[in-house]
Amino acid sequence: MRISVIGTGYVGLVTGATLADLGNQVVCLDIIEEKINMLNSGKSPIFEPGLEELLQKGIKTKNLIGSTEIEQYVRNSEITFICVGTPSDENGNIDLSYIKSASSTIGRALRDKNEKHTVVVKSTVVPLTTENVVMPNILKKSGWKRENLGIGMNPEFLREGSAVDDAQNPDRIVIGHADEIARRTLNKLYESYNCVKLECIPRTAELIKYASNSFLASKISFVNEIANMSNVWGIDFQEVAEGMGLDSRISAEFLRAGAGFGGSCFPKDVKALAAAAKNSNVESLMLKATLEVNDLQPSIIVKMAEERLGVIKDKKIAILGLAFKPNTDDVRESRSEIVIAELIQKGADIIAHDPEGMANFKKILEIPMAPSAELATDKADCVIIMTEWDEYKNLDLELLLKKMNGNVLIDGRRALDANKAEKVGFDYKTIGLG
Ligand code: UGA
Repeated sequence: MRISVIGTGYVGLVTGATLADLGNQVVCLDIIEEKINMLNSGKSPIFEPGLEELLQKGIKTKNLIGSTEIEQYVRNSEITFICVGTPSDENGNIDLSYIKSASSTIGRALRDKNEKHTVVVKSTVVPLTTENVVMPNILKKSGWKRENLGIGMNPEFLREGSAVDDAQNPDRIVIGHADEIARRTLNKLYESYNCVKLECIPRTAELIKYASNSFLASKISFVNEIANMSNVWGIDFQEVAEGMGLDSRISAEFLRAGAGFGGSCFPKDVKALAAAAKNSNVESLMLKATLEVNDLQPSIIVKMAEERLGVIKDKKIAILGLAFKPNTDDVRESRSEIVIAELIQKGADIIAHDPEGMANFKKILEIPMAPSAELATDKADCVIIMTEWDEYKNLDLELLLKKMNGNVLIDGRRALDANKAEKVGFDYKTIGLG
Protein backbone atom coordinates (compact mmCIF):
# COMPACT_ATOMS: atom_id res chain seq x y z
CA MET A 1 0.00 0.00 0.00
CA ARG A 2 1.10 3.62 -0.49
CA ILE A 3 1.30 5.12 2.98
CA SER A 4 2.07 8.62 4.22
CA VAL A 5 2.95 9.18 7.87
CA ILE A 6 2.75 12.70 9.31
CA GLY A 7 5.12 13.29 12.23
CA THR A 8 8.56 11.75 12.68
CA GLY A 9 8.65 11.32 16.44
CA TYR A 10 9.22 7.83 17.78
CA VAL A 11 5.67 6.72 16.94
CA GLY A 12 5.79 8.01 13.33
CA LEU A 13 9.26 6.69 12.65
CA VAL A 14 8.68 3.26 14.14
CA THR A 15 5.29 2.95 12.43
CA GLY A 16 6.73 4.08 9.08
CA ALA A 17 9.80 1.85 9.27
CA THR A 18 7.77 -1.21 10.34
CA LEU A 19 5.16 -0.76 7.60
CA ALA A 20 7.93 -0.25 5.01
CA ASP A 21 9.55 -3.46 6.23
CA LEU A 22 6.29 -5.27 5.44
CA GLY A 23 6.66 -4.20 1.79
CA ASN A 24 4.54 -1.05 1.75
CA GLN A 25 5.65 2.19 0.06
CA VAL A 26 6.03 4.58 2.98
CA VAL A 27 6.80 8.32 3.10
CA CYS A 28 7.57 9.79 6.51
CA LEU A 29 6.60 13.46 6.57
CA ASP A 30 7.61 16.31 8.83
CA ILE A 31 7.97 20.07 8.67
CA ILE A 32 11.41 19.89 10.30
CA GLU A 33 13.86 19.59 7.41
CA GLU A 34 16.77 18.56 9.61
CA LYS A 35 14.93 15.43 10.78
CA ILE A 36 13.98 14.50 7.22
CA ASN A 37 17.57 14.96 6.00
CA MET A 38 18.83 12.72 8.79
CA LEU A 39 16.23 10.10 7.96
CA ASN A 40 17.09 10.12 4.25
CA SER A 41 20.76 9.72 5.05
CA GLY A 42 19.93 6.59 7.07
CA LYS A 43 20.34 8.17 10.50
CA SER A 44 17.63 7.95 13.11
CA PRO A 45 16.67 11.36 14.52
CA ILE A 46 16.00 9.63 17.87
CA PHE A 47 17.79 6.94 19.89
CA GLU A 48 15.67 3.80 19.71
CA PRO A 49 17.26 0.34 19.62
CA GLY A 50 16.88 -1.34 16.20
CA LEU A 51 15.27 1.69 14.55
CA GLU A 52 18.26 2.95 12.59
CA GLU A 53 18.82 -0.48 11.04
CA LEU A 54 15.17 -0.69 10.04
CA LEU A 55 15.22 2.82 8.55
CA GLN A 56 18.37 1.99 6.57
CA LYS A 57 16.78 -1.21 5.30
CA GLY A 58 13.70 0.73 4.17
CA ILE A 59 15.79 3.36 2.38
CA LYS A 60 17.92 0.69 0.69
CA THR A 61 14.89 -1.22 -0.59
CA LYS A 62 13.30 2.13 -1.61
CA ASN A 63 10.22 1.29 0.47
CA LEU A 64 10.88 4.25 2.74
CA ILE A 65 11.70 7.91 2.19
CA GLY A 66 11.38 11.09 4.19
CA SER A 67 10.02 14.38 2.85
CA THR A 68 8.84 17.82 3.90
CA GLU A 69 6.46 17.96 0.89
CA ILE A 70 3.53 16.92 3.06
CA GLU A 71 0.58 17.78 0.81
CA GLN A 72 2.09 16.19 -2.28
CA TYR A 73 2.86 12.87 -0.59
CA VAL A 74 -0.44 12.73 1.26
CA ARG A 75 -2.24 13.15 -2.08
CA ASN A 76 -0.17 10.39 -3.69
CA SER A 77 -0.83 7.88 -0.91
CA GLU A 78 -3.88 5.71 -0.18
CA ILE A 79 -3.65 5.97 3.57
CA THR A 80 -2.32 8.69 5.88
CA PHE A 81 -1.33 8.11 9.50
CA ILE A 82 -1.41 11.08 11.86
CA CYS A 83 1.46 10.59 14.32
CA VAL A 84 1.96 14.11 15.65
CA GLY A 85 2.46 15.00 19.30
CA THR A 86 -0.43 15.68 21.68
CA PRO A 87 1.18 17.54 24.60
CA SER A 88 -0.57 18.75 27.75
CA ASP A 89 -1.38 22.41 28.32
CA GLU A 90 -0.74 24.02 31.72
CA ASN A 91 -4.02 22.61 33.11
CA GLY A 92 -3.31 19.06 31.96
CA ASN A 93 -5.75 19.35 29.04
CA ILE A 94 -4.68 17.79 25.77
CA ASP A 95 -3.29 20.32 23.28
CA LEU A 96 -4.73 19.41 19.89
CA SER A 97 -3.02 22.11 17.85
CA TYR A 98 -0.73 19.69 15.96
CA ILE A 99 -3.67 17.37 15.31
CA LYS A 100 -5.70 20.26 13.95
CA SER A 101 -2.94 21.50 11.71
CA ALA A 102 -2.18 17.96 10.42
CA SER A 103 -5.86 17.40 9.57
CA SER A 104 -6.06 20.78 7.83
CA THR A 105 -2.99 19.90 5.76
CA ILE A 106 -4.53 16.55 4.84
CA GLY A 107 -7.77 18.32 3.88
CA ARG A 108 -5.89 20.72 1.61
CA ALA A 109 -3.93 17.86 0.07
CA LEU A 110 -7.10 15.96 -0.77
CA ARG A 111 -8.75 18.89 -2.56
CA ASP A 112 -7.51 17.81 -5.99
CA LYS A 113 -7.66 14.08 -5.41
CA ASN A 114 -10.28 11.94 -7.11
CA GLU A 115 -9.72 8.55 -5.45
CA LYS A 116 -10.87 7.45 -2.01
CA HIS A 117 -8.46 8.07 0.88
CA THR A 118 -8.16 6.78 4.44
CA VAL A 119 -6.90 8.89 7.33
CA VAL A 120 -5.92 7.10 10.52
CA VAL A 121 -5.17 8.81 13.82
CA LYS A 122 -2.34 7.07 15.68
CA SER A 123 -1.56 9.94 18.03
CA THR A 124 -3.01 9.55 21.51
CA VAL A 125 -6.16 11.69 21.55
CA VAL A 126 -9.03 12.01 24.02
CA PRO A 127 -12.32 10.30 23.12
CA LEU A 128 -14.31 11.94 20.31
CA THR A 129 -11.30 13.78 18.81
CA THR A 130 -11.16 11.67 15.65
CA GLU A 131 -14.90 12.01 15.01
CA ASN A 132 -15.40 15.60 16.19
CA VAL A 133 -12.12 17.32 15.29
CA VAL A 134 -10.14 15.38 12.70
CA MET A 135 -12.94 14.23 10.41
CA PRO A 136 -14.85 17.56 10.16
CA ASN A 137 -11.61 19.47 9.64
CA ILE A 138 -10.58 17.24 6.72
CA LEU A 139 -14.03 17.38 5.15
CA LYS A 140 -14.18 21.16 5.49
CA LYS A 141 -10.73 21.82 4.07
CA SER A 142 -11.01 19.28 1.25
CA GLY A 143 -14.60 19.93 0.28
CA TRP A 144 -15.00 16.15 0.06
CA LYS A 145 -18.18 14.16 0.45
CA ARG A 146 -18.15 11.96 3.58
CA GLU A 147 -18.57 8.73 1.57
CA ASN A 148 -15.16 9.08 -0.12
CA LEU A 149 -13.20 9.44 3.09
CA GLY A 150 -12.10 6.60 5.36
CA ILE A 151 -11.62 7.61 9.02
CA GLY A 152 -9.80 5.35 11.45
CA MET A 153 -8.27 5.45 14.91
CA ASN A 154 -5.50 2.94 15.48
CA PRO A 155 -3.67 3.58 18.77
CA GLU A 156 -0.07 2.57 19.33
CA PHE A 157 1.19 0.56 22.29
CA LEU A 158 4.90 1.11 21.72
CA ARG A 159 7.25 1.37 24.65
CA GLU A 160 10.25 3.61 24.14
CA GLY A 161 13.35 1.46 24.19
CA SER A 162 11.54 -1.55 22.72
CA ALA A 163 9.27 0.23 20.23
CA VAL A 164 10.49 -1.68 17.16
CA ASP A 165 9.88 -5.05 18.78
CA ASP A 166 6.49 -3.89 20.11
CA ALA A 167 5.50 -2.73 16.59
CA GLN A 168 6.56 -6.00 15.00
CA ASN A 169 5.09 -8.25 17.71
CA PRO A 170 2.05 -6.50 19.15
CA ASP A 171 -0.20 -8.07 21.83
CA ARG A 172 -3.19 -6.69 19.96
CA ILE A 173 -4.10 -4.29 17.17
CA VAL A 174 -7.03 -1.98 17.83
CA ILE A 175 -8.82 -1.04 14.63
CA GLY A 176 -11.12 1.88 15.31
CA HIS A 177 -13.14 2.72 12.22
CA ALA A 178 -15.89 5.21 11.47
CA ASP A 179 -16.77 3.64 8.11
CA GLU A 180 -16.32 0.68 5.81
CA ILE A 181 -13.41 2.24 3.86
CA ALA A 182 -11.26 2.54 6.99
CA ARG A 183 -12.33 -0.89 8.26
CA ARG A 184 -11.29 -2.61 5.03
CA THR A 185 -8.09 -0.60 4.57
CA LEU A 186 -6.82 -1.23 8.09
CA ASN A 187 -7.69 -4.93 8.03
CA LYS A 188 -5.81 -5.29 4.75
CA LEU A 189 -2.82 -3.36 6.07
CA TYR A 190 -2.52 -5.57 9.16
CA GLU A 191 -3.41 -8.82 7.37
CA SER A 192 -0.03 -10.44 8.02
CA TYR A 193 -0.17 -9.95 11.80
CA ASN A 194 -1.32 -12.95 13.80
CA CYS A 195 -2.34 -11.19 16.99
CA VAL A 196 -5.90 -10.36 18.06
CA LYS A 197 -7.40 -7.54 16.02
CA LEU A 198 -10.10 -5.69 17.85
CA GLU A 199 -12.56 -3.70 15.79
CA CYS A 200 -14.50 -0.85 17.35
CA ILE A 201 -15.64 2.72 16.76
CA PRO A 202 -12.95 5.45 16.94
CA ARG A 203 -13.95 6.82 20.35
CA THR A 204 -13.65 3.33 21.85
CA ALA A 205 -10.18 2.96 20.33
CA GLU A 206 -9.24 6.33 21.80
CA LEU A 207 -10.37 5.30 25.27
CA ILE A 208 -8.68 1.88 25.03
CA LYS A 209 -5.38 3.69 24.61
CA TYR A 210 -5.93 6.08 27.54
CA ALA A 211 -7.37 3.40 29.78
CA SER A 212 -4.41 1.10 29.07
CA ASN A 213 -1.79 3.74 29.87
CA SER A 214 -3.70 5.02 32.88
CA PHE A 215 -4.20 1.51 34.22
CA LEU A 216 -0.48 0.76 33.93
CA ALA A 217 0.36 4.09 35.57
CA SER A 218 -2.13 3.35 38.38
CA LYS A 219 -0.55 -0.07 38.82
CA ILE A 220 2.85 1.60 39.33
CA SER A 221 1.48 4.14 41.81
CA PHE A 222 -0.31 1.36 43.64
CA VAL A 223 2.85 -0.74 44.01
CA ASN A 224 4.82 2.35 45.02
CA GLU A 225 2.33 3.00 47.80
CA ILE A 226 2.58 -0.60 49.00
CA ALA A 227 6.39 -0.44 48.70
CA ASN A 228 6.40 2.68 50.90
CA MET A 229 4.45 0.68 53.51
CA SER A 230 6.92 -2.20 53.11
CA ASN A 231 9.73 0.26 53.88
CA VAL A 232 8.40 1.04 57.34
CA TRP A 233 7.29 -2.49 58.18
CA GLY A 234 10.56 -4.24 57.40
CA ILE A 235 9.16 -6.07 54.39
CA ASP A 236 10.93 -6.68 51.09
CA PHE A 237 8.45 -5.42 48.50
CA GLN A 238 10.10 -7.45 45.74
CA GLU A 239 8.86 -10.61 47.48
CA VAL A 240 5.42 -9.05 47.80
CA ALA A 241 5.45 -8.24 44.08
CA GLU A 242 6.49 -11.81 43.30
CA GLY A 243 3.62 -13.13 45.39
CA MET A 244 1.16 -10.78 43.73
CA GLY A 245 2.45 -11.39 40.21
CA LEU A 246 1.88 -15.12 40.47
CA ASP A 247 -1.83 -14.41 40.32
CA SER A 248 -2.58 -14.44 36.60
CA ARG A 249 -5.31 -11.85 37.13
CA ILE A 250 -2.68 -9.41 38.42
CA SER A 251 0.31 -10.47 36.22
CA ALA A 252 3.95 -9.95 37.13
CA GLU A 253 4.39 -7.01 34.75
CA PHE A 254 4.59 -3.41 35.96
CA LEU A 255 5.07 -4.30 39.59
CA ARG A 256 8.46 -2.60 39.93
CA ALA A 257 8.43 -0.07 42.74
CA GLY A 258 10.77 2.91 42.64
CA ALA A 259 11.02 6.59 41.86
CA GLY A 260 7.76 6.62 39.92
CA PHE A 261 6.74 6.81 36.28
CA GLY A 262 8.00 9.40 33.84
CA GLY A 263 8.28 9.76 30.10
CA SER A 264 6.29 11.42 27.40
CA CYS A 265 3.20 9.25 27.84
CA PHE A 266 2.05 8.19 31.32
CA PRO A 267 2.15 11.56 33.13
CA LYS A 268 0.62 13.39 30.16
CA ASP A 269 -2.00 10.76 29.39
CA VAL A 270 -3.21 10.35 32.97
CA LYS A 271 -3.56 14.14 33.25
CA ALA A 272 -5.33 14.41 29.89
CA LEU A 273 -7.82 11.65 30.70
CA ALA A 274 -8.56 13.17 34.12
CA ALA A 275 -9.01 16.60 32.52
CA ALA A 276 -11.22 15.24 29.73
CA ALA A 277 -13.37 13.39 32.29
CA LYS A 278 -13.68 16.54 34.40
CA ASN A 279 -14.72 18.57 31.35
CA SER A 280 -17.51 16.02 30.92
CA ASN A 281 -18.45 16.30 34.62
CA VAL A 282 -16.93 12.97 35.68
CA GLU A 283 -14.57 13.23 38.65
CA SER A 284 -11.71 10.73 38.49
CA LEU A 285 -10.44 9.99 41.99
CA MET A 286 -8.25 7.10 40.84
CA LEU A 287 -6.34 9.14 38.26
CA LYS A 288 -5.86 11.97 40.74
CA ALA A 289 -4.41 9.59 43.32
CA THR A 290 -2.18 7.98 40.69
CA LEU A 291 -0.59 11.35 39.96
CA GLU A 292 -0.35 12.32 43.63
CA VAL A 293 1.53 9.14 44.57
CA ASN A 294 3.80 9.61 41.59
CA ASP A 295 4.60 13.18 42.60
CA LEU A 296 5.57 11.97 46.06
CA GLN A 297 8.12 9.29 45.10
CA PRO A 298 11.05 11.58 44.14
CA SER A 299 10.82 13.36 47.53
CA ILE A 300 11.13 9.98 49.26
CA ILE A 301 14.44 9.45 47.43
CA VAL A 302 15.67 12.89 48.55
CA LYS A 303 14.58 12.15 52.12
CA MET A 304 16.51 8.87 52.08
CA ALA A 305 19.67 10.77 51.12
CA GLU A 306 19.03 13.48 53.69
CA GLU A 307 18.51 10.98 56.51
CA ARG A 308 21.86 9.40 55.77
CA LEU A 309 23.91 12.50 55.01
CA GLY A 310 22.54 14.64 57.84
CA VAL A 311 22.67 17.79 55.79
CA ILE A 312 22.52 17.98 52.02
CA LYS A 313 24.21 21.39 51.76
CA ASP A 314 27.62 21.21 50.04
CA LYS A 315 27.51 17.41 49.82
CA LYS A 316 28.70 16.02 46.51
CA ILE A 317 25.87 13.90 45.15
CA ALA A 318 26.27 11.90 41.95
CA ILE A 319 23.08 11.15 40.03
CA LEU A 320 23.30 8.09 37.81
CA GLY A 321 20.51 8.15 35.25
CA LEU A 322 18.69 11.05 33.63
CA ALA A 323 16.58 9.22 31.04
CA PHE A 324 13.06 8.37 32.25
CA LYS A 325 13.90 4.70 31.79
CA PRO A 326 16.79 2.65 30.33
CA ASN A 327 17.50 2.25 26.59
CA THR A 328 16.25 5.67 25.64
CA ASP A 329 17.69 9.19 25.48
CA ASP A 330 14.28 10.63 26.41
CA VAL A 331 14.38 12.70 29.59
CA ARG A 332 10.83 14.06 29.44
CA GLU A 333 9.13 14.00 32.87
CA SER A 334 12.11 12.07 34.17
CA ARG A 335 12.00 11.60 37.94
CA SER A 336 15.70 12.58 38.02
CA GLU A 337 14.79 16.15 37.14
CA ILE A 338 12.62 16.46 40.25
CA VAL A 339 15.18 14.79 42.52
CA ILE A 340 17.99 16.98 41.15
CA ALA A 341 15.92 20.18 41.51
CA GLU A 342 15.10 19.34 45.15
CA LEU A 343 18.71 18.51 45.96
CA ILE A 344 19.98 21.71 44.34
CA GLN A 345 17.45 23.67 46.37
CA LYS A 346 18.89 22.09 49.50
CA GLY A 347 22.38 23.20 48.45
CA ALA A 348 23.82 19.94 47.10
CA ASP A 349 26.78 19.89 44.77
CA ILE A 350 25.29 17.80 41.96
CA ILE A 351 27.03 15.93 39.18
CA ALA A 352 25.18 13.59 36.83
CA HIS A 353 25.74 10.92 34.22
CA ASP A 354 23.55 9.06 31.75
CA PRO A 355 24.71 6.83 28.89
CA GLU A 356 22.32 8.46 26.38
CA GLY A 357 20.27 11.20 28.02
CA MET A 358 22.81 13.91 28.88
CA ALA A 359 22.43 16.01 25.72
CA ASN A 360 18.65 16.14 26.08
CA PHE A 361 18.80 16.82 29.82
CA LYS A 362 21.08 19.81 29.23
CA LYS A 363 18.23 21.44 27.35
CA ILE A 364 15.98 21.38 30.42
CA LEU A 365 18.43 21.85 33.29
CA GLU A 366 22.03 23.02 33.12
CA ILE A 367 23.97 20.96 35.68
CA PRO A 368 27.51 19.54 35.78
CA MET A 369 27.76 16.22 33.98
CA ALA A 370 30.56 13.69 33.72
CA PRO A 371 31.39 11.62 30.63
CA SER A 372 31.35 8.37 32.64
CA ALA A 373 29.74 6.94 35.77
CA GLU A 374 33.26 6.49 37.21
CA LEU A 375 34.05 10.19 36.85
CA ALA A 376 30.64 11.28 38.14
CA THR A 377 30.94 9.22 41.32
CA ASP A 378 34.58 10.11 42.03
CA LYS A 379 34.83 11.62 45.57
CA ALA A 380 31.03 11.68 45.89
CA ASP A 381 29.47 11.69 49.35
CA CYS A 382 26.40 9.97 48.00
CA VAL A 383 25.40 8.20 44.79
CA ILE A 384 21.75 8.04 43.67
CA ILE A 385 20.72 5.63 40.91
CA MET A 386 17.71 7.03 39.06
CA THR A 387 17.62 4.88 35.89
CA GLU A 388 18.28 1.15 35.85
CA TRP A 389 20.72 1.07 32.91
CA ASP A 390 22.64 -2.23 32.64
CA GLU A 391 25.83 -0.19 32.99
CA TYR A 392 24.78 0.80 36.51
CA LYS A 393 23.49 -2.65 37.42
CA ASN A 394 26.95 -3.98 36.58
CA LEU A 395 28.92 -1.33 38.48
CA ASP A 396 32.03 -2.61 40.26
CA LEU A 397 30.75 -1.77 43.74
CA GLU A 398 34.10 -2.23 45.51
CA LEU A 399 35.81 0.16 43.14
CA LEU A 400 32.90 2.59 43.40
CA LEU A 401 33.14 2.70 47.20
CA LYS A 402 36.93 3.07 47.12
CA LYS A 403 36.70 6.13 44.87
CA MET A 404 33.86 7.78 46.79
CA ASN A 405 34.20 10.14 49.68
CA GLY A 406 31.25 8.69 51.57
CA ASN A 407 29.35 5.42 51.47
CA VAL A 408 25.72 6.42 50.90
CA LEU A 409 24.12 4.65 47.98
CA ILE A 410 20.44 5.33 47.21
CA ASP A 411 18.89 3.08 44.62
CA GLY A 412 15.81 4.76 43.16
CA ARG A 413 15.08 1.85 40.85
CA ARG A 414 16.10 -1.18 42.84
CA ALA A 415 18.80 -1.83 40.25
CA LEU A 416 21.38 -3.38 42.58
CA ASP A 417 21.60 -6.40 44.82
CA ALA A 418 21.04 -4.99 48.31
CA ASN A 419 23.01 -7.74 50.09
CA LYS A 420 25.99 -7.25 47.83
CA ALA A 421 25.95 -3.47 48.28
CA GLU A 422 25.78 -3.79 52.07
CA LYS A 423 28.49 -6.44 52.17
CA VAL A 424 30.82 -4.14 50.23
CA GLY A 425 30.23 -1.51 52.94
CA PHE A 426 27.62 0.79 51.48
CA ASP A 427 24.94 2.51 53.52
CA TYR A 428 22.42 1.28 50.95
CA LYS A 429 18.77 2.32 50.79
CA THR A 430 16.12 1.63 48.21
CA ILE A 431 12.34 1.88 47.92
CA GLY A 432 10.51 -1.15 49.24
CA LEU A 433 13.22 -2.94 51.16
CA GLY A 434 12.17 -2.65 54.75
C1 UGA B 1 4.16 3.56 27.70
C2 UGA B 1 3.34 2.27 27.54
O1 UGA B 1 3.99 1.20 28.25
C3 UGA B 1 3.20 1.91 26.06
O2 UGA B 1 2.36 0.77 25.92
C4 UGA B 1 2.56 3.10 25.33
O3 UGA B 1 2.40 2.85 23.95
C5 UGA B 1 3.44 4.32 25.51
O4 UGA B 1 3.56 4.60 26.92
C6 UGA B 1 2.80 5.47 24.78
O5 UGA B 1 1.71 5.89 25.16
O6 UGA B 1 3.30 5.87 23.74
P1 UGA B 1 6.76 4.16 27.78
O7 UGA B 1 6.32 5.46 28.35
O8 UGA B 1 7.70 4.16 26.66
O9 UGA B 1 5.48 3.32 27.27
O10 UGA B 1 7.48 3.35 28.93
P2 UGA B 1 7.08 2.24 30.02
O11 UGA B 1 7.99 1.10 29.86
O12 UGA B 1 5.66 1.97 30.04
O13 UGA B 1 7.52 3.00 31.37
C7 UGA B 1 6.92 4.22 31.78
C8 UGA B 1 7.46 4.64 33.13
O14 UGA B 1 7.01 3.76 34.15
C9 UGA B 1 8.99 4.65 33.23
O15 UGA B 1 9.40 5.80 33.92
C10 UGA B 1 9.30 3.40 34.05
O16 UGA B 1 10.50 3.52 34.78
C11 UGA B 1 8.10 3.31 34.96
N1 UGA B 1 7.81 1.95 35.44
C12 UGA B 1 7.45 0.98 34.57
C13 UGA B 1 7.88 1.70 36.80
O17 UGA B 1 8.20 2.58 37.63
N2 UGA B 1 7.58 0.43 37.25
C14 UGA B 1 7.22 -0.57 36.41
O18 UGA B 1 6.96 -1.69 36.90
C15 UGA B 1 7.16 -0.29 35.03
